[in-house]
Amino acid sequence: MKPVLAAGLAGISLLALGACELAPKESYQTGYRGTGMNSVMVKASAVDDEVPAPPYDPPGTAGPRAGDLYPGLEVLGDVSEEQFNYTMAAITAWVAPEEGCAYCHDPADMASNVKYTKAVSRRMIAMTRELNQDWTSHVGNTGVTCWTCHRGEAVPTEHWTLPEDAAHKGIVRNKNGQNDPVSNSAYSSLPNAAVARYLLGGTSPQSARVVSTTPFPSAANTTSTMETEQTYAIMIHISQALGVNCTYCHNAQSFQSWENSNPFRETAYFGLDMVRQINFGYITPLADVFPDNRKGVMGDPFKVNCTTCHRGQNKPLGGAKMAWDYPALMPTMFSAAVRQADARMARERTGAAAE
Ligand code: HEC
Ligand code: HEC
Ligand code: HEC
Ligand code: HEC
Repeated sequence: MKPVLAAGLAGISLLALGACELAPKESYQTGYRGTGMNSVMVKASAVDDEVPAPPYDPPGTAGPRAGDLYPGLEVLGDVSEEQFNYTMAAITAWVAPEEGCAYCHDPADMASNVKYTKAVSRRMIAMTRELNQDWTSHVGNTGVTCWTCHRGEAVPTEHWTLPEDAAHKGIVRNKNGQNDPVSNSAYSSLPNAAVARYLLGGTSPQSARVVSTTPFPSAANTTSTMETEQTYAIMIHISQALGVNCTYCHNAQSFQSWENSNPFRETAYFGLDMVRQINFGYITPLADVFPDNRKGVMGDPFKVNCTTCHRGQNKPLGGAKMAWDYPALMPTMFSAAVRQADARMARERTGAAAE
């Protein structure tokens, strides 16, 4: 073969390989031997899971309440004054490290509400608290902070918006969002609106159920190929977001059976519900608050998907319990966690004394 041709072919095969993820992987067995239940995951050390240090040593939760000092507070009034200042310093580092306090405040009047970023932050603080208190079915006692999504950026880099109305594009009238590669469907020809179908929330929460429960077509078996493609697209999104393959959650013998699935599938199920609540309950209602440069082609604000927090890891930030350092963002859970840790230490102490 001529060297030039060989080099050309090598170039083409490299280009083809470019579509594969290069990050190092590790695999381990998740089911009985011979069942083929192996999980292939991105090596934890290969993803960005840096947790920023607190702005300074976390202060106490006692003392006067912030609400007594600043009557304008709507969400953080119940935390101690010291905790309040500490929390402001932390969210500045997480969301607007370069712009500082002025990203959300008018420096001449901190209590003023002129900046839209302050209005958005109020809802974001309330949302973060709700996630930590009411969604332990998903976030466990690990919890989340603004950093879990923001990572030092005012706009989290991983988000989605509604795709341009496909029905009005081109000579093919409704192509079901297909052949319009977007990262959410792994740049495949699968429908690009699958994320919207399952993660938008609201009037018609969609569950991804497509496997037939009857052998022949019946009233209980009406799922179309179109829905199957949507399900496949959202499953690919989930797998990519977590950096895992399908058998991390499913037993390939039956994708439907919950009994044969791994417990992670249940966590994922609550995750789907939680993301719908984030988008429908918090972000969509802020549509009028966000300026146009913070919206997609259809005029909707940037919304959350599984990647926003997970970033290619089965647990965001490698499962670091970062939120524990910020009791203002996880008030009830923090005290429960402290009580648990105290009880464990007491047990260890008495256990050690008994020996
Ligand atoms: C990402 C947005 C954001 C940043 C950055 C930020 N804050 Fe705030 N700040 C808020 C929000 C939201 C409130 C209102 C909270 C509430 O209603 O409970 C607030 C309230 C306050 C208040 C009480 C005044 C009032 O009534 O609103 C003070 C004082 C304050 N912040 C100080 C600071 C300081 C100092 C910094 C910089 C170290 C800072 N903030 C950075 C969002 C921010
Ligand atoms: C579950 C993920 C998530 C968490 C947790 C989260 N945010 Fe956000 N936040 C978003 C998304 C997505 C946007 C982008 C919305 C848009 O621009 O349309 C956003 C936008 C913002 C903005 C507007 C920035 C701009 O320049 O327009 C501010 C300010 C903000 N968040 C503050 C916070 C604060 C403070 C916290 C923690 C108390 C927080 N966020 C927690 C997802 C999150
Ligand atoms: C992180 C866990 C997780 C991963 C990884 C995952 N799934 Fe799923 N899968 C789920 C959950 C949860 C449901 C149920 C969703 C619902 O009920 O709304 C589901 C549902 C399904 C269904 C529908 C089952 C039914 O009852 O009709 C199919 C088919 C499916 N997944 C295939 C896949 C394929 C193929 C992959 C790999 C590309 C994959 N899944 C990866 C969690 C996962
Ligand atoms: C607001 C941030 C956030 C979003 C968005 C999010 N997750 Fe999670 N997820 C977490 C946290 C935090 C944990 C770790 C919980 C723990 O340590 O018990 C987690 C854990 C999981 C686990 C368990 C992994 C394991 O190995 O134990 C699965 C599965 C999962 N998430 C799936 C999803 C899916 C699917 C989506 C999208 C529908 C999603 N998550 C969206 C924060 C998030």
